[in-house]
Amino acid sequence: MSIAALNIQRQPYVVNAGIISMSLKKRDFDQDAASWDDNPGRVKLAKDIAKAIAEEINLTPSMDVLDFGCGTGLLTMHLQPFVRTITAADSSRGMLDVLNTKIKDRNLTNVKTIFLDIGKDGIMEGSFHLITSSMTFHHIKDIRPVLKQFYSILLPAGKIGIADLDIDNGLFHESNDGVFHFGFDRNSLSNTFKEAGFRDIKCRTAAQITKPVHGGGSREFTIFLMTGCK
Ligand SMILES: C[S@@+](CC[C@H](N)C(=O)[O-])C[C@H]1O[C@@H](n2cnc3c(N)ncnc32)[C@H](O)[C@@H]1O
Repeated sequence: MSIAALNIQRQPYVVNAGIISMSLKKRDFDQDAASWDDNPGRVKLAKDIAKAIAEEINLTPSMDVLDFGCGTGLLTMHLQPFVRTITAADSSRGMLDVLNTKIKDRNLTNVKTIFLDIGKDGIMEGSFHLITSSMTFHHIKDIRPVLKQFYSILLPAGKIGIADLDIDNGLFHESNDGVFHFGFDRNSLSNTFKEAGFRDIKCRTAAQITKPVHGGGSREFTIFLMTGCK
């Protein structure tokens, strides 16, 4: 049976000589931070996701936004010109350092960064009109409490926009260290949004990316944007 044919969602793994095995190792994003933006596919992906967010959610100059798992701020930077403030939260100090340099170099006064490891000891505080996240949810072991927390820190009628991989059977990443979900099933994620309290849940394809996969050849992956309202 091919790796792609196996339904292995939610199981961290490594591919080793064609055998799938578990890996619970956390990915070291600090190590990737300096070269994160050198990948044109990643840069385009963030641009496509920002475009989809702007098409689905009315971004206004009075909005306070949380960009969760902001990384080097690829999405943050696209959104910041259209809103009042963005709080960019991440558990990698290396990624946040890269974003802090961008903020300084561009003299931005409406973006602030915070260190937050949400599954560990981190509790997100504040009140926001919009919470966004791009390609971070598959790195979060238990997304249910996170969505509940997001619901509680959204202002009334606040919006959420989460972009992540559709089911990829573990093929998207070169290494699956720190990958807790091999993409998401849209229906099941929509139910999790509902359970957290969100309404008006919608989902669309935000981006497509073609990249080489283990075993040779390349594959197209799709990234959804799921939106909801408090
Ligand atoms: C694949 S990167 C995406 C970065 C950025 N959103 C982008 O689109 O380029 C995932 C990010 O999530 C962060 N992350 C992973 N686990 C986290 C956690 N428990 N709490 C906060 N951030 C986390 C990582 O440090 C990393 O920067």
